[in-house]
Amino acid sequence: MIRRKLGWLLVGFFLFQSLWPFPSEAADLEVLEPRVPHDQIAKARSWENPFPSTPENIEKGKHIFHGKAFCVTCHGPDGKGLGDIPGLRGKLPRNFTDKTWQAARTDGELFWILQNGSPGTAMASFIPLVLTEEEAWYVILYVRSFGNGVKFRKE
Ligand code: HEC
Repeated sequence: MIRRKLGWLLVGFFLFQSLWPFPSEAADLEVLEPRVPHDQIAKARSWENPFPSTPENIEKGKHIFHGKAFCVTCHGPDGKGLGDIPGLRGKLPRNFTDKTWQAARTDGELFWILQNGSPGTAMASFIPLVLTEEEAWYVILYVRSFGNGVKFRKE
């Protein structure tokens, strides 16, 4: 009798889990921790993208993302980030379709990452060896396009 009840409890538990409305990926709060060090973040947040988000400019960023900056090899053609790449040292490439992440970051913080990389992860610095500052701003427009119009932090 008790066993049968336990069985139903388990069934109920799994049903509950599968009906739970919040997807488990959304619970990864670790990625929301700023990557820019404390003493530099105010400055980084004051930088603004000099280029407007027009379809032409986003296209320029896409070209760089898929081309010479090879961002696509880690962040994937859909921006969701590939998982099992050798040498990742524990941190997965950012999923750019994560709207909570998009909302948490300013453009300036993303620019800082392209200048300095994310220390201790496979995210390297790209400016100035691979990207000029202008090209980096275009790529950031493309990265933002994965957020599908989500409003992000301005400062
Ligand atoms: C070798 C794999 C690799 C390549 C190539 C790569 N990234 Fe990354 N990227 C990562 C990883 C891993 C992270 C996660 C770092 C972390 O968690 O701090 C990341 C994180 C990021 C972030 C988020 C940082 C934050 O503040 O959360 C941005 C933006 C980014 N990458 C942009 C780019 C762009 C643009 C390119 C191409 C110019 C690129 N990445 C190329 C691996 C890569």
